[in-house]
Amino acid sequence: MRNMVNDVVAVIGGSSGIGKESAKLFADQGAQVVLIARGTDRLRETAAEIQNQGRRADVMKADVASLDEMRTAAERIKATYGKLDVLIYSAAGFYLSPVETMDLTVAKQLMEINYWGALHTTQAFLPVIRKGERKSMVYISSLSAQCTPPFFTAYAATKHALRGFLLSLRQELRPEGIHVGMVSPGPVQTPLIEKDLHQDMYRLPFGIPVLKPESAAKAVLRSVKTRKGDLVVPARIAAAARLAAAFPSLVETYYRLSIPGWRKHIESLVGRRPI
Ligand SMILES: NC(=O)c1ccc[n+]([C@@H]2O[C@H](COP(=O)([O-])OP(=O)(O)OC[C@H]3O[C@@H](n4cnc5c(N)ncnc54)[C@H](OP(=O)(O)O)[C@@H]3O)[C@@H](O)[C@H]2O)c1
Repeated sequence: MRNMVNDVVAVIGGSSGIGKESAKLFADQGAQVVLIARGTDRLRETAAEIQNQGRRADVMKADVASLDEMRTAAERIKATYGKLDVLIYSAAGFYLSPVETMDLTVAKQLMEINYWGALHTTQAFLPVIRKGERKSMVYISSLSAQCTPPFFTAYAATKHALRGFLLSLRQELRPEGIHVGMVSPGPVQTPLIEKDLHQDMYRLPFGIPVLKPESAAKAVLRSVKTRKGDLVVPARIAAAARLAAAFPSLVETYYRLSIPGWRKHIESLVGRRPI
């Protein structure tokens, strides 16, 4: 079904993983998609994949850490298409570490992309979103902003910051009819986590599946179409995620009980006995 033929959709982080699959899904609906990221090779490859299916894709190189670059990208969209209907924010970095030995440069870069990048993008793109008909902005958060595992201090802090930003932003923009969606996936098989997944610092407790990026992309489309505020992926753990956010000690207990030798495992990674 091609029912978004008049829509212009910008996907920040559209050259890989969830952003790439979202771009393909929106293009399949008939939308003109604009892929934005830093690396031109992956941008061009993704655009070619979409165009080879007879769909419409454009690319723009920009770094979310730079407000100027995001403003330039937004102005180019306005000059080319006159409007933007949907903004998808899917750029991120990922980093696991015990806090004492954390590389602070990496941790600060993560905040620069995952939080400040979202703020830069929002400031830069709001004027052109106001010119669109659909007026929808969807940000990819993470289940780790509700159920926070150990060794996620750097990454989870960025996602908690993003969550706070979005919970406030959606109230600010609602009177203008602008939808602010937050999609929170559990682990997804993408280049972002492929080196870390199933390694010592990334033990998955029982019941947490590893998703395909297509599943998260479907939730992004659902968020735009239904104008829902919060979507957890997979949907069947949404109630558990809400409970975990309200009672964080449940998450600690769940990890302790579902991972054998939990205390020894943590000790071995941190390199000293916990108090
Ligand atoms: N994968 C998971 O397990 C998982 C779970 C929960 C939530 N999420 C969230 O889902 C979103 C997408 O993650 P993913 O797994 O799809 O990641 P991914 O496959 O690594 O894709 C990240 C995309 O962001 C772009 N990007 C990174 N830094 C950027 C920057 N400074 N400026 C512009 N673009 C930048 C990358 O392209 P360039 O590097 O070329 O710029 C790439 O297109 C993120 O918000 C992530 O936190 C992922």
